Amino acid sequence: MSREPMIAPSLLSADFARLADEVARVADADWLHVDVMDAHFVPNLTLGLPVVQAIQEVSPVPLDCHLMIEDPERWAPGYAEVGARNVTVHVEACRDARAVARDIRAAGALAGLAIKPGTPLEDHLELLRDFDTLLVMSVEPGFGGQSFIADVLPKVREARRLVDSGELTLLVEIDGGINADTIEQAAEAGVDMFVAGSAVYGAQDPAAAIAALRAQAAAARPA
Ligand code: DX5
Ligand code: ZN
Repeated sequence: MSREPMIAPSLLSADFARLADEVARVADADWLHVDVMDAHFVPNLTLGLPVVQAIQEVSPVPLDCHLMIEDPERWAPGYAEVGARNVTVHVEACRDARAVARDIRAAGALAGLAIKPGTPLEDHLELLRDFDTLLVMSVEPGFGGQSFIADVLPKVREARRLVDSGELTLLVEIDGGINADTIEQAAEAGVDMFVAGSAVYGAQDPAAAIAALRAQAAAARPA
C-alpha cells in the first residue's frame, strides 16, 4: 500500500444538518471517516446504517466506517454491503474477530481492527493477519475534540516495523486528537492514514486543512 500520508476527515465534527454539503467540502480527502456509536460500546450515540448508506450515495470519497458498537458480528457486514471501502470493528467488542473480518471482506470491503488506547497490540498480532487496516485509537473512543494520547505511539512504531518487515500487510491508521500540533509525531512513528475531525471541520477551509496536514505528515514521516 501507498506510503504517501493519507487524510481521513471525521464526519463526527461536521454539521449533521448538512451532511451532503459537508461531504462535498472534503472531496480531496483520501477516505471519509464515519464514526458509528451505539451508546453501549461507547456512551455516545451517532448514526447507523441508513445514514451511512445515504452518505455513501453522495460521497466522492471512499467511506471508512469506524464501528464503536457491540455485536459487530451482526452489523459490520451491512456497512460493507452498502459500499464502504473499509469497515473497522473494535477488538474489545468482538467475540470472533476473525469471522467478522471474513464477513466484511466477503461483502467487498477492507477489514479494519481498532484498538483502544489501553489495549496492547501484542495480544492481537496473529489476528491482524486477517485484517487490512489497524486503527490505533489515540483518544478514548466516544467523542471528538479530545487531546491526543502520545503513549499509544509505541504501538504505531511496532505495527510499522511489522509491516515494513513483511510480517503483516496492513495500513496503519490513527484516530483521535490529530491536528497541526500532533500529526508530526504520529507521522514519525509510521502512520499511513490520519483521521482528523475537529482539525478539518473546525477549520475555516477544510480542503486547505487537509492539504496542510498532508504536507506536514509527508515532511515528518521516516524516509
Ligand atoms: C472518537 C472518534 C474519532 C473522532 C476524532 O471516538 O473515533 O474519529 O471523530 O475527532 P478529533 O480528530 O476531533 O479527535
Ligand atoms: Zn473514529
